[in-house]
Order: sequence, then structure tokens, then C-alpha cells
Amino acid sequence: MLRRLGQSKLQVAPVAMGCWPIAGITSVGVTEAHSLATLRAAFDARVNFFDTAYCYGYDGESERMIGRALGSHRDEIVIASKCGIHWEQGKQVTDGRPATIRRECEQSLRRLGTDRIDLYYLHAPDRDTPVSESAGALRELLDAGLVRAVGVSNFHTTDLLDEFQAVCPIRALQPHYNMLQREIEADRLPWCRAHDVAAVVYWPLMKGFLAGKLRRDHQWNPRDGRQKYPIFQGEQWAKTHDFVDRLRPLAEEIPCSVAQLVIAWTIRQPGITAALCGAKRPEQIAETAAAMRLTLSMSVMEQIAQAIADRGELDSRPAV
Ligand SMILES: NC(=O)c1ccc[n+]([C@@H]2O[C@H](COP(=O)([O-])OP(=O)(O)OC[C@H]3O[C@@H](n4cnc5c(N)ncnc54)[C@H](OP(=O)(O)O)[C@@H]3O)[C@@H](O)[C@H]2O)c1
Repeated sequence: MLRRLGQSKLQVAPVAMGCWPIAGITSVGVTEAHSLATLRAAFDARVNFFDTAYCYGYDGESERMIGRALGSHRDEIVIASKCGIHWEQGKQVTDGRPATIRRECEQSLRRLGTDRIDLYYLHAPDRDTPVSESAGALRELLDAGLVRAVGVSNFHTTDLLDEFQAVCPIRALQPHYNMLQREIEADRLPWCRAHDVAAVVYWPLMKGFLAGKLRRDHQWNPRDGRQKYPIFQGEQWAKTHDFVDRLRPLAEEIPCSVAQLVIAWTIRQPGITAALCGAKRPEQIAETAAAMRLTLSMSVMEQIAQAIADRGELDSRPAV
């Protein structure tokens, strides 16, 4: 069931746990006990791949929890973290300068309680720092053995990928991707396949929408960060609910949950190595992890394709 991560020696489960929700910044009602239990539940469900970042938490809280919950299983798990974005007075700041990258890596290693990060991403390109300079810093970390493989996230063009790759080998790209947001299929996914680079995708459940559990009359908690995105408003909200309703009978027939159908579809797409499934409760990751063992028939795949075509993709270049 494990898949090789690009040209690296790392072997990862196709369902990875996304460790942003456990940080609690935009997800509501997360306690530390829930978060630690969710990480352990992921491991128990055979998820061996954990995705975090310095900025998951105002001060690296997500990384600290991974160290606490899974430190005793260090050699059985693959930890991915990211540098280059931090919080300042409640706002995210992008900083890809070499000195920042080196410092953030050392701090992440301490928080995670480990001597190496298996996969270390540049979280996003920094407009004020040439990408070759950020790549050079990551290359040094790789050569020093502090990170085992390097990835990049939120790179929107293949030119930028080429520029980075000329200095430091890229083993994984982390873009967003789900049934309705598939723009990487036009350029970056073919690039990944041509260069044997893993595509590790975020928002496979479209921030929970495609889990099929948000009701049409859902009342948002004012602290829930999702309501600011257009997809959770007005006509888009209604159309996506109609789409999820098309998935329900397909899931029932299998039988599985809508979330499982969506994740099983995602990890079957050509070129997709792993789907990052965010979770803040043990039962959520137990549910999505079970999608690793689902097989979807050709008929189900065709009906999903038709539902997607009828819904129409979202133009998600400006955030969802
Ligand atoms: N590189 C980047 O810039 C970037 C950006 C975003 C995310 N990421 C990574 O990708 C991961 C995934 O993104 P995400 O966490 O924002 O979104 P997601 O995986 O699309 O959705 C996660 C949310 O879906 C809901 N959910 C999950 N499993 C469920 C289930 N079985 N049943 C019902 N609801 C379920 C939960 O929300 P509720 O319970 O609150 O409904 C959960 O917080 C992140 O955790 C992070 O590791 C990376």
C-alpha cells in the first residue's frame, strides 16, 4: 500500500494526515487532548505520513504535538514540515531568505524532537527573495543531512519549479487539488510525472465540504475560518451541495462514506502520490484513512466524472 515519494527513498501511505486543523487557529473546538488522540489514531489506522509546518500554530504547536504523540514511533513515520512562512501579529508573513530557512529548520527539529526532517518544503515562494537563493539554503540542509528530501509548495508555474530544481532536487510538490479544483492537471502534474516528483495534495476534502457533512443550513461559528472563502457562500455553496448530493448514492452503493469516496478517487488520479487529509478528531482520520483500502469500479469513476463535468470546476486561482 505504501508509495515511493518521488525519487526519494521515503515510502508513504497515500492518505497522509494534514496537521493544520490540530493547531486550532481556524478550526473551532480543538483541544490538545483531541489533537494528540487524533495523531495516535492516524498512526493506528496505518497512516505513516504526517504533514505539518512551522506556521501550523502561532509558534509551531502542531510540530510539538507530533513530537509528543509520535516520538516513540519516530522510525516508523515520515514527517514533512515546511519553512518560509511565519506569523507576525496575527498575519502570515512569507520569508524565504536563506538565514531564515536555516534558523526555522533548526527550530523545527527541536520542536519535533528529532535529528532529521524526512521531507522539508519551502512553504511558498518569497517574492522578495530569488527562488534560487531559497533553493540553495534547502540544498545545504539536505547536504548536511538535516533533511532527507526537499519539496516545494504553492508553486504556481513550472518555470518556478525548473528554477528551483536547477539548484536543489525537488522530491515533492504540494499544491491544492480536489474533485472540483484540478488546475494542476494542465501543467504541474505533467511536470511532476515527467520529473518523477511526488504530488502530495492539500484540500482533498475542500476544507471539509466534500466530506458531505456540512448541512445546507449550516450556521458558522464566527471563529471558523472557512466562511471567508467564496466557495462557502451564495451560489457556489448551493452548487457544491448539489454536487455532494450526486456523490451520496454512489457512496451508499459501495458502501462507504462520501469522504471515503472522495479520498479514494483522489489517490487514484494519475500522478497523485498522496492526499493530505486534515483532521481534528480521531474518528475523522480513521474514516479518511480507510479510503486507502477502497477500490472504485470503472462505473463509479465514470459517474463521478459526469457529476464533476455537470458541476463545472471552480476557478480557484484566487484562494478557493
Ligand atoms: N501547503 C499549504 O499551503 C497548505 C495549505 C492548506 C493545507 N495544507 C495541508 O493540507 C492539509 C489538509 O488541508 P485542510 O486540513 O485545510 O483541509 P481538508 O483536509 O480538505 O479538510 C479538513 C477538514 O475537513 C473536515 N473533515 C476531515 N475529515 C472529516 C471526516 N471524516 N468527516 C467530516 N469532516 C471531516 C474537518 O473539518 P470540520 O470538522 O471542522 O468540519 C477537517 O478540519 C492540512 O492539514 C495541511 O497539512 C497545506
